[in-house]
Amino acid sequence: MRLVLLGPPGAGKGTQAKWLVERYGIPQLSTGDMLREAVAKGTEVGRQAKAVMERGELVSDAIINAIVEERLAQPDCARGFVLDGFPRTVAQAEALDAMLAARGQKLDAVIELRVDVEALVERIAGRFACAKCGAGYHDRFKRPKVEGVCDVCGSTEFTRRKDDNPEAVRTRLQAYEAQTAPLLPYYRARGLLRTVDGMAPIEAVTAAIGRVLAEIGG
Ligand code: AP5
Repeated sequence: MRLVLLGPPGAGKGTQAKWLVERYGIPQLSTGDMLREAVAKGTEVGRQAKAVMERGELVSDAIINAIVEERLAQPDCARGFVLDGFPRTVAQAEALDAMLAARGQKLDAVIELRVDVEALVERIAGRFACAKCGAGYHDRFKRPKVEGVCDVCGSTEFTRRKDDNPEAVRTRLQAYEAQTAPLLPYYRARGLLRTVDGMAPIEAVTAAIGRVLAEIGG
């Protein structure tokens, strides 16, 4: 399965990607996670991306395309992947098409998580993650089973993202509308776009994605 998850910040791309990883045994390729790792390690890419990300703007296509191309060449992508947060511009979508064509591959589906913008601010403001293993939680919608303890690794330390503040979230939403939403007609024209209701509870969104993928033979 070669999949793209498309949707604005807080739509649930990361949340649903985790399930797809388990269901299909394919890696999650999150450009946001890759960039945050580069920032944490202080690499050249990280130094270039840090301030841009904190403002909520998009990192340049050249940097992102290079990161993705390198990642797609790793052996664990041979059986497929789920892209989360990439592509985010038409130029990135065209670059992805070229990268896959060079390997004789193509996408199986692009899944749009359709959400109401008003709900996103609450989703993003309530989000936190385990500081050790990165498992994602939400103050209201997905609390750890035991208060203050990560379900996955038992750690008691949690973090919140720097760009999850109201100002950066506004910029991220604007970036989505201006630069990423044009990908919807791009993929619709190619017959790849499948839309699911991202406003449903997490498990219901997962079930809807499962149905979409079953339809295309996944
Ligand atoms: P990135 O890390 O990709 O952030 P994003 O797109 O803003 O998406 P989020 O991670 O905020 O949201 P999500 O859809 O994954 O939602 P989640 O599942 O966590 O990018 C960060 C930055 O990196 C960008 O701003 C940019 O600067 C740079 N960047 C990255 N990729 C780039 C690219 N390709 N080009 C240029 N720049 C790039 O869910 C959110 C919360 O809601 C969670 O707490 C979750 O538990 C909860 N939740 C999820 N689903 C539901 C539901 N159905 N009901 C209730 N709660 C839910």
